[in-house]
Amino acid sequence: MIKIHLVNKPEFNNLVNSAQFIKDINENIYIVKGYYSVREIDKIKQICLEFSNEIEPAWYPCVDDCPDYHRLHNNYPKAHVQSIQHAYYFHRWNGNHSLFNFFSNIFNMKSVLVDSNNIDMDFLNNIPSTGPIARVLVHQYPRGGGGQKEHIDPVSPYAKIQTIIQASVPNKDYRSGGLYINTSETGKVYLDGMTNKGDLIVMSPGIKHGVEAIDPECELDWSKDDGRWIIMPIIIDSDLKKDGYGKPISVNVGTP
Ligand SMILES: [Fe+2]
Repeated sequence: MIKIHLVNKPEFNNLVNSAQFIKDINENIYIVKGYYSVREIDKIKQICLEFSNEIEPAWYPCVDDCPDYHRLHNNYPKAHVQSIQHAYYFHRWNGNHSLFNFFSNIFNMKSVLVDSNNIDMDFLNNIPSTGPIARVLVHQYPRGGGGQKEHIDPVSPYAKIQTIIQASVPNKDYRSGGLYINTSETGKVYLDGMTNKGDLIVMSPGIKHGVEAIDPECELDWSKDDGRWIIMPIIIDSDLKKDGYGKPISVNVGTP
């Protein structure tokens, strides 16, 4: 049975350094309270809002020289997992060094968990043609139905944990919906109610999860900046060097 642990940062740092941590990751979810400060998180959201004010939405494949971009997902039929969200994609080769330094704890944590010799571990310096790359992903799930269908994400040597930073205030920026897990033992368990802005959620990417529609009774308005925001520092394979671990898999055709 999966257990959810509310821990502080020193407690979590101790846990993650023990060998048992990764062995038991399928049975445990950690919510690390106050991992980042509200002020720091707001600064990153502000960067996103300024970026989308200046640059038109677009999509680019993950190849060398891929620019930073943002994109509106509105249940695009060919998506690996359908979602309604405004997503932002930042890459270190575009000069975002301070943004990636800010998340160095998380990238380091993921590097330490790598147990394969066949991987180019220089994630922060890799470009798509050389190996797996670091990306900072920000999602805004707008009120009026923002969400993501149930899915599992690929577990790879460099993605043994997923690290989701809560970047909004549940019950203030949105009233209902948000991240849940859904296992045969537990049924749907909603996590956002246990979180606040700046908290870090750590869990296995292989646990079935989704984002239940955010305030579906409201009218969807892409120009509003409330709703549910999260930040995910991730390491992914590129579109030039496939790692064989695959893409996220939608596992249920239901509400987003
Ligand atoms: Fe996911």
